[in-house]
Amino acid sequence: MAELTQPGASIQENAAERTARRVERVWAWSMTAIIALLVAVVVFTSLHWGMQLPSSVETIDSTRLQLGGEFSEGNLGTSVSQTGAVTVRVLAQQYAFVPKCIVVPADTPVTLRAVSADVVHGFIVQGTNVNTMVVPGYVATLKTRFPQPGDYRMPCHEFCGVGHQGMWAQVRVVARDQFPFEQATKEAVNCAQR
Ligand code: CUA
Repeated sequence: MAELTQPGASIQENAAERTARRVERVWAWSMTAIIALLVAVVVFTSLHWGMQLPSSVETIDSTRLQLGGEFSEGNLGTSVSQTGAVTVRVLAQQYAFVPKCIVVPADTPVTLRAVSADVVHGFIVQGTNVNTMVVPGYVATLKTRFPQPGDYRMPCHEFCGVGHQGMWAQVRVVARDQFPFEQATKEAVNCAQR
């Protein structure tokens, strides 16, 4: 108590308070600026790169994928429905994607549907807006369109175990007249077997 009544003590206290208030103001403005920047980045990438939010939550029993149904072996790859819709079905498992080479027609709307048979995987297709996690128990769905023919790399981008760095597939985009539409209406096609 004695010190507080000493002359100069309250002046010192006021100076300390002012410094604290100034530092807090700087901190608050910096935080606001960082949050605003992050929001701006999210909005920009969503609009400019067509980034998509995770698809509506669709569940699947990951332990029974090979036993039949949509993701059984014969259905993996690219299929064309009666209405002409192109759907690619991919299975991710330690440490490969099935099929290893995905073939799609250029400049055509494509729906990608991916599932995991074991742990969390993910993939990105270089140079496109395709970027998703593949979580066991869920179907990851993405809509995209590949404008240019070419070969694109599709690496797994979620650490999934010791073989993670060797887990990748290839996406081969071919001109529409080179894509086997007719065959793809009957069976799933891919470019791994050729
Ligand atoms: Cu699969 Cu990393």
